[in-house]
Amino acid sequence: KRYALILAGGSGQRFWPISRDAQPKQLLKLFGEKTLLELTIDRLDGFVPKENILILTNKQQEASVRALIKDLPVENIVAEPEKRDTAPAIALAVGWVVSRDPTATMIVLPADHLIQNQAEFQRVLSNAALAAENSGSLVTVGITPTWPCPSYGYVERGRRASIGGLNDLPVWEVARFREKPNPDLAEHFISQGNFLWNAGMFIWTIPAIFSELSRHCPVLADFVSELRGSKDFNATVEKQFGKLPKLSIDYALMEHASRVLNIESTFDWDDVGNWTSVGRYLKTDEHGNQHNCALSQLDTLNNIVFTQTGQHVALIGVQDLIVVASKDGLLVATRSKAENIKKIVDGLPQQL
Ligand code: GDD
Ligand code: MG
Repeated sequence: KRYALILAGGSGQRFWPISRDAQPKQLLKLFGEKTLLELTIDRLDGFVPKENILILTNKQQEASVRALIKDLPVENIVAEPEKRDTAPAIALAVGWVVSRDPTATMIVLPADHLIQNQAEFQRVLSNAALAAENSGSLVTVGITPTWPCPSYGYVERGRRASIGGLNDLPVWEVARFREKPNPDLAEHFISQGNFLWNAGMFIWTIPAIFSELSRHCPVLADFVSELRGSKDFNATVEKQFGKLPKLSIDYALMEHASRVLNIESTFDWDDVGNWTSVGRYLKTDEHGNQHNCALSQLDTLNNIVFTQTGQHVALIGVQDLIVVASKDGLLVATRSKAENIKKIVDGLPQQL
């Protein structure tokens, strides 16, 4: 049986003033009527049944997630007691799945990516699931890199893997997994030609992930065992979760795991990390202004304008600006400096 874990507990500072701690990227309607989290669930339609989808979030975001996602059983939305990054979250999910089916296949998905080609997405994941089931390895999804981005993980492709029973896509052994290399190393990887970006999706069977956790993250494997034996799942989570190491799965496990495979994505993929990447999906006028709202302009060029409540915006004589308005905040930044938003948000009062 197949289960999907949707990791939806990340924070989102880069989309201030639209995003807040309780309202991060995956809960925003950046692309029309649906949030990225809803789009992530929709993408699994016909591939993983709703009752086998687990959403992991945190206490701060739990109410918003529950209000938004009405068609999953209540126990399929779990709030982590505190933010400890993705390795403890994944261990919690392994415990959740193992109590239902100890031989299941598990598909781990981020909640905050934009992927439009659903059919191709499902084709890649079903090939990945077969590869995981037939090899007992941890399967990653690779994206053809376009620049030496230091904020992704990289997989070095080794030999072509020979696994029986596969559909139609090639699968490769991973010679090395390296999370967030510094810019020089990222540059070096790209120049080698056999490195791909890690898409942040993982496919494995429960026995395979349990065995790799036992070897490389025994504390997390113990947590899984305790969840499996526990009569009160939530009470065990409350008691143990805060003691787990704060680490992402990439650093905690993927860099060390011995049996890792990669399948190359044939679908479109964008992790939409900032306003510039959101801009690409908005309407563009003949002056290069990308906008989601009514816009009047005089003598402008290449601005991004996003409003949450449908204000009418007027721009005069400005170029390369990012203008974002929510009901209680306004951002005006020049495109080339917009990533400094994190420094501002860190200094804001809690309620903002
Ligand atoms: N439940 C839960 N709990 N989810 C979390 C937590 C947590 O503590 N922390 C992050 N997440 C969620 C985020 O909401 C997102 O959907 C996903 O887990 C990945 O976390 P990010 O914080 O966005 O990771 P990243 O982008 O820096 O790096 C990962 O993704 C890249 C691709 O976008 C890595 O896997 C990289 O190797 C990869 O290249
Ligand atoms: Mg991310």
